Amino acid sequence: MMRAGRIAALAIAASGAIAGILCVAIVYFGWYDVSATSPHRAVVYHLMDTALARSVKLRSADVQVPELNGEERIQNGARLYSTHCVQCHGAPGVAPQPYALGLNPAPAALVATARARPASDIFWITRQGIKMTGMPAWRYRLTDDQIWDVVAFMRVLPTLSPADYQHMDDGQPPASTDHAPPDSLRLGDSVAGKAALHQYLCVTCHTIPGVTGAWNHVGPSLAGMADRPYIAGAMANTPENLQRWLRAPGAVKQGTVMPDLGVSEQDARDIAAFLYTLSKRDR
Ligand code: HEC
Ligand code: HEC
Repeated sequence: MMRAGRIAALAIAASGAIAGILCVAIVYFGWYDVSATSPHRAVVYHLMDTALARSVKLRSADVQVPELNGEERIQNGARLYSTHCVQCHGAPGVAPQPYALGLNPAPAALVATARARPASDIFWITRQGIKMTGMPAWRYRLTDDQIWDVVAFMRVLPTLSPADYQHMDDGQPPASTDHAPPDSLRLGDSVAGKAALHQYLCVTCHTIPGVTGAWNHVGPSLAGMADRPYIAGAMANTPENLQRWLRAPGAVKQGTVMPDLGVSEQDARDIAAFLYTLSKRDR
């Protein structure tokens, strides 16, 4: 009995090791085809689909759905949809842009999604985005109210003919609906600031200690930001100046390579709070 148990344990350990070696080999020798033109195998496809469905279900459970039937909300949602979503997802009688046709996984026809998924799921996916697909997170670009406007529009989307859609897409710019109280800005939160670094592409240009993927040298390293006397050699390093720099570098220093990334006031506070945790003295 003891012997059989030991053999079984050894067999499991050995197959585990072989599977591990195989995985390493697939990666190391480049056998995995990363090209967007090679579709996933059916197993991988179903696995990812299930992972997505389960993950969204778990995380969207607490989302409170507001009133979505208002005409104004739906109309504003149509404008937001044609500004930010139709390029990839298309609409009745409208094809996605060429770059979206080449995405793998392909962006779903949201007419089907709107029928199949509850409003809370659609809100959550639109706000958070989906990792390893081309689906962007919109929470740093749109207010929660605007995201609900889009969700409200998506609920009527399956009922629209191409002519209805053309009619709703009236070419007006979307309104920035935001029902949050005007004084709802909070003090900078360094944890939120660290997360925002990925969402404004700071990581693609800077080396930032403790931030995954921020290993680049397009701009200066941000190590020891708390100890520096100046920001970009242009002005004194104070919290107010740092926030001004993050929101509009070009206005502070003409001709600078760092672009204006549309950082919101709250996100600038949070990012500044994080950058001030970077001190040489701690090391
Ligand atoms: C750059 C292209 C792109 C843009 C722009 C885009 N999406 Fe997506 N979206 C994707 C991709 C890729 C997926 C993942 C594949 C899939 O499941 O459809 C996705 C998935 C989704 C899903 C889940 C679909 C499903 O059935 O599981 C929803 C909902 C969604 N997007 C909503 C939106 C909304 C709303 C907007 C506009 C605010 C938007 N998307 C803008 C590319 C895009
Ligand atoms: C396209 C590349 C690029 C992106 C994206 C970018 N930066 Fe920069 N950043 C630069 C460059 C280049 C400089 C140097 C500017 C100068 O001195 O004129 C700089 C300077 C800075 C400085 C001043 C550093 C010092 O040494 O005084 C800070 C702080 C900073 N960036 C933070 C950020 C943050 C936070 C983000 C994201 C919101 C960001 N950057 C996004 C390229 C970029």
